[in-house]
Amino acid sequence: MPDALRDDVYQRPLSTALERLGIGPGWKCVDVGAGGGDVSVALAEIVGHDGRVYAVDSDPRARDEVASAAAAFSQVLAITQAGEDLLLPEAVDLAFCRFLLVHVVDPAVVLRRMRGAVRPGGWVVVQEPITSAGRVGGVALSMPEARHPDVGALLPALVRDAGLAIADAWAEAPAGVGPGPVTAYLASLTGVDPGDDPVVLPPLVTVVGRVPQPAPAGR
Ligand SMILES: C[S@@+](CC[C@H](N)C(=O)[O-])C[C@H]1O[C@@H](n2cnc3c(N)ncnc32)[C@H](O)[C@@H]1O
Repeated sequence: MPDALRDDVYQRPLSTALERLGIGPGWKCVDVGAGGGDVSVALAEIVGHDGRVYAVDSDPRARDEVASAAAAFSQVLAITQAGEDLLLPEAVDLAFCRFLLVHVVDPAVVLRRMRGAVRPGGWVVVQEPITSAGRVGGVALSMPEARHPDVGALLPALVRDAGLAIADAWAEAPAGVGPGPVTAYLASLTGVDPGDDPVVLPPLVTVVGRVPQPAPAGR
């Protein structure tokens, strides 16, 4: 996966989501399905050295990739663990995933584990695509290797059913025609150059969920 390129073309929804939270120095986060660590590094830059970012991935190779991408950030801790087994040494303020639930066996199981990793009042942010809503020259895209290529379309319900309050939800799709980052991204993913065909990449659905606070005593 061309992580750096993905981070570039899907940078806008990531920035919007993080701004929406008011995340800042000292926050503790987990990036589940961290891959090459692009999001983990973006989080580390925001939370600073007083914060912590757990970069979790089930593939042991990701640990080395994250270690090299985040070499300058001692606050990033790379862990080999499946999202289904997510267990951290402390409760975090934010559990994040992007392009993860498309690949897991049961997205609901992973979302429940993410919720369980977050302190009361903390955040779960999920960004997943609706692959078939992407278009090249007007023709729908597909992702045969993914288990749930259109999981983005189900995301609000999945987040709610994991016991989270939905604070915000939206979809964004980078689009372009001719040479540029969108066309380059598609070519790198599929191996096919779309030439002069217009490209709308799969919309990324973002859902910002919040872990409910316990009711005040005496109520
Ligand atoms: C497409 S990459 C996304 C990387 C990163 N989140 C991003 O957006 O740049 C998906 C990552 O999820 C990991 N993954 C797949 N299934 C997983 C699971 N059940 N638990 C944890 N990680 C998983 C893969 O190893 C891979 O690194």
